[in-house]
Amino acid sequence: MLIAANWKMNLNKFSIEDFAGTLYEYEFTKQVKLCIFPSIIHVNYLKDMIATLPVAVGGQTCHYEKRGAFTGDISADALLEAGCEYVLLGHSERRKYHNESNSFIKKCATTALHNGLIPIICVGENIREREDDIATKVVENQLNECMPDEFGEIVIAYEPLWSIGTGKIPTMKQIMEMHGVIKQTVGLQSKLVKVLYGGSVNISNASEILSVDNVDGLLVGGASLHANELLQIYNLAAEQCQI
Ligand code: PGA
Repeated sequence: MLIAANWKMNLNKFSIEDFAGTLYEYEFTKQVKLCIFPSIIHVNYLKDMIATLPVAVGGQTCHYEKRGAFTGDISADALLEAGCEYVLLGHSERRKYHNESNSFIKKCATTALHNGLIPIICVGENIREREDDIATKVVENQLNECMPDEFGEIVIAYEPLWSIGTGKIPTMKQIMEMHGVIKQTVGLQSKLVKVLYGGSVNISNASEILSVDNVDGLLVGGASLHANELLQIYNLAAEQCQI
């Protein structure tokens, strides 16, 4: 299982130091991988801080070009050099505030794979699409347009837009159906592809979500900002692996 902690544009050096201190008191298991996505300026700092822990660090985005005149962007090479293992791509906030399109995300995912990073491609429908009963069509289309053409270790995060930061989550049946559709759509690659659920995950709902078929982990936003909360979610994932 994979637990991905998306810190977005939060935390600073002091809170990261505290966070790392709590992580050092915890015993991690091999069955559940934890990856933290700090803001880019803190990637090196966090990486150094947790150097001896079995916890991965990732970037919140990357560009598809190797280098060049792209002010404010970050290359996959630079993420790798900083010790990142994963990169989040096409998060709904990137799609909304930075106009990232499916074809842009596909190019980024391809570059990430070539550079040895594991892309976590985010997909999900908005509330209108859910109500109009076209959620699966929307997600299938996002996948068809975002997945790189070659095989590789890829993670898909199903994050319904209406669930991110709202406290609302889909029913377990809806999650099961969507994760099934995602595995089916990636087809032959499905053995290499993990599917995470993201959107308002917390300590009260994590266990139930993790027990759903085809849920290989979680992408956690708000609840990942406090080490104790994140570790409780991690613990629930570890328990789920024992079942
Ligand atoms: P949330 O965010 O857990 O705060 O809903 C999830 C995400 O945006 O990845």
